[in-house]
Order: sequence, then C-alpha cells, then structure tokens
Amino acid sequence: MTAAEPVTPGPAASAPFHLATLDVARLVAAEIEGSCLDPHRPLPSPTPRERLASNAAIFTSGGSAPRDIWIETALGARINGVLAETGASLDLLDLCSMTCNAVLGINDPWVKLKQTAFLLSAHPHYLPARIGSDLYYRVADRILRSMSDFGGPGDFVINLRQCNGSDAVELALHAAWKAADSPERRQLATFEGSYHGESIVASLICQDDSSEGSGRALIEQVDNVTSFPSPNCDDGGYLSPRTLATLAALECDGDRYFAVIIEPIQWRNSVHTIPLEFLRQLREICTRKSICLIFDEVQNAFGYTGTMFFAQNSGVCPDIIATGKALTSGHGALAIVIAKSRYQDIEPPFGGKTNSGDMLSFVAVDAVMDRLVGMDPAEAGALPAWLPADLTAELRTGLLATVYPHTAAMLDTLVRDLQQRFPTLIGAASGLGLIRGMKMLEANGEASGWLAAKAAQICLRHGVYVRRAGSALYLKPCLTTSAHDFETARDRLGRTFDELLQLRGVR
Ligand SMILES: Cc1ncc(COP(=O)(O)O)c(C=O)c1O
Repeated sequence: MTAAEPVTPGPAASAPFHLATLDVARLVAAEIEGSCLDPHRPLPSPTPRERLASNAAIFTSGGSAPRDIWIETALGARINGVLAETGASLDLLDLCSMTCNAVLGINDPWVKLKQTAFLLSAHPHYLPARIGSDLYYRVADRILRSMSDFGGPGDFVINLRQCNGSDAVELALHAAWKAADSPERRQLATFEGSYHGESIVASLICQDDSSEGSGRALIEQVDNVTSFPSPNCDDGGYLSPRTLATLAALECDGDRYFAVIIEPIQWRNSVHTIPLEFLRQLREICTRKSICLIFDEVQNAFGYTGTMFFAQNSGVCPDIIATGKALTSGHGALAIVIAKSRYQDIEPPFGGKTNSGDMLSFVAVDAVMDRLVGMDPAEAGALPAWLPADLTAELRTGLLATVYPHTAAMLDTLVRDLQQRFPTLIGAASGLGLIRGMKMLEANGEASGWLAAKAAQICLRHGVYVRRAGSALYLKPCLTTSAHDFETARDRLGRTFDELLQLRGVR
C-alpha cells in the first residue's frame, strides 16, 4: 500500500478479553487466590492521593513522577482508575496507545498468553549477548523477512540489543559514521521539527521545543550537524522552494555527509508527514552521493501506518531503520536497528545494551508479529482449541490485512467529524493511518501550541488520553480500538472542544 492510497474498511478487531477469563487460566488463578501471589489481594498502602502527594520527596522532577491519574485496571483502549486531583473514578479512553507503545492496546491476551507459556517453560528468561538461543534467531529471521520487498537474505542485518529508541538512533548514527570512515564525511543532515530521543547524542541532533539543549552534560552543541527546514509542499502540492533547496544543497555538498536522519512522520512537528516525493528524491541523492539514509521509525513502525515498517508503506527503503516503542506492544523494553549489510560494522562499546537480554521482550515481539501479520500456517494449525474463535481467526490472517483499514477509516471519520463540528477551533488534519494530528486554532486562525496543551489537559478530565504534539492534538489509537470506543471518543472530545472554545473566548 502506498501512503496516498485510500483505505477500504474491513472487519473490526475481536473484543479484547483478560487472560484470566480463560478456563485454563482460571485453574492457576484459583490456586493462588488469597495468597500473597493473588494480584487482587488488597494492599495496605496509602490512598492514591497520598501516594501522589509524596512525589516531591521520592522522585526526580522532569517526567519520573506520576501526576494526573492512578490506574487500577485496563483492557484494550479502556482504562479504569481515579483522577489524582479529586479522587473521582475515571473511565479513560486511551487514544494515544499509552504513549505510542501499545499498538495492540493494553493487556493483549495473545502476547500475555505467549509470555505465560514461556514463563512456565524451562527456557532461560534472560541471556546476555554472547549466548545464543532459538528464540533470538527466530525473532531476527522474522523481522528481517518483513524487509523482503527490498532484498533477499544477507542484504539486511539486524541488531536486537537496544533498549530504547534513543539507543537505536545512536547505534544507527554510529554504524553510518563507521561505514563512512573518512575525515571528509563528518556532516550529519537532520530536519527542523524532528525528535530523536533524550540521550545526549539523540537530543543534540534534534531541535524541538523540549530539547533546547540548556543544562546538557558534557556537550552543549555540535558543529557538524546541519538542520534543514522540515520538508513540505506548497499550496499546489509540489515540493516547496525551501524543500527543493534542501535537496539541491545535499546534491551539491553530499560528499561531506555521512548520514541523513529523518522521521517519515514528524510527530512533534504537529504530526507532519514528510512528502513522499521528497523521500524518493532524497533516496536518489543519498544513493548517488553514498550518504547513509536513516529512517527514525521509533514512532512509525510496527503497524501504525498499515505495514511493519514505513519503508514498506512508502516504497522508499532507507539504509538503516532505527525503531523501538511498539515492538513489544508495551510488554517489555526493546529497540532494534535494521541495516543494509554495508552498515554491519559496530565497534565496541556499542551494540549490546545489558538489559536487552530480557527474553520476555523477544517473546513479546514474536507474539506482536503473530497479531500484526499472522502466524506461520503450520504453527497456526496447532493453536489450542480453547482459544476464542475470533482470536484464532485473527492470528491466521493478521490484523494489518483485515482490521487496520477499518480502524484507520474510523479514526479518519472521527477527525473529519470533529473538524466539521468545530471549524474555527480545529484546523488542518495531519499524519497518516493511525498517526494523526488535529491543529488547534486561535480565533484569528493561528495555530496554537497553548490550546493544544490545554486540550490534552481537559481531555483527561473528560476521559480521553491524548497528547499534545506541537500545535496539534496527537491521536495514535491502538489497532484494536472498537467502533464503540470511537463513538465514546467523539462524545468526549466534543465536550472537550466545547470547553476549549469557551476558554479561548475569555482569554
Ligand atoms: C521519533 C522518535 N525517535 C526516538 C525516540 C526516543 O525513543 P525512547 O524514548 O524510547 O528513547 C522517540 C521517543 O518518543 C521518538 O518519538
């Protein structure tokens, strides 16, 4: 599927269910009920409010302390908890895949089932990098096979030993730098509006509003990074003059660059999709000038645009893909790098993060791929008979072929309905597939980051979890979000925007 093709609605995802509702799981649950292993045993802890009130005494500031919500249970896109401020109970709809990781929603039964089966086995739950295991090779083979549109065995190599997206980005840069191996090729091209992570190097190469660089340790800035304007089209739909100038500059000075790193959809830049024509021309220049083209697919990969990788969606194959987040759908921390074999060389100390030896993360990737692209037919033939029929059917075909078009179409309809209902508040929609942005507008039509932030805040009170992305509201629902969930979202977002309009009016 190309980026521009319309979607044809298919069937909806089966209703999510908790593993504990299966008879086989009931047996175990009954055995641990009432013991210290019983997850439902009430804990003699302080109330959520008291817990949150102790934040300043316990946590560092800047992201590590919970603030708004206390969660009790969750399933799919639905989350139950309490509002920290008032203690009122909250039925929350997650329209942002729990910060973009949980592509299958929360508590996906198949991933949990596979992890449970693994835990019950005698297989090692952890293995460091020098020690092999079948699962490790199985995951590597499977992910590499999804690049078969672009080459055969041996054309791509993979590193499965990263923990976070920032790690994967840094490893990709290292591989490209190493392959260039020339003092003349030390320049990196990046794009305004990109985000590549929070490690020192990853944050140094992006220029968004939250990584300005003040307070960094060891190094404040580097002088071999050129940040080009975010590529875009003019009103006629052709590449803008500034964008053409970027291509011309890379064509002219290409011999100085070891790499270009680009996010196909710049989420922090109000969910801006890079024009396909730009990616195509960039690919050609990078090939001609021997520049390593890196796609940062930490946000885009693993199903959110309908394919495993954005490269498949766009037909543009980078030299290196760095990704993380959705790989395990939130069932373990893992990030990976896929590279053309020419970028195979990694030098110590890079390439093997200690905590990447968690085998449950590899079980999760394997199970997530079962869910997204379907199981190998031979394995699917051995699915247990007690598995709900809907889930069995989905595991045979994969959600991307069947459910994705439907979910993407429902999201599209939601965005369009809200635009029509609030024409002075919601501007252009952006993004692609399940990665969408809605620009928030001031009364004079100007895009407003303040209103986007306010909207995300008010949404929580009305029971929707979304994020701010630049001057847009960022929607990135999980693949299994149901029609009923979208109806609920329409109502709650509508109430949020009514309130936001009033707020905008009195400001
Ligand atoms: C495009 C992109 N690249 C890199 C990262 C960094 O990933 P992580 O937070 O896992 O280090 C992120 C995180 O949001 C991201 O969105």
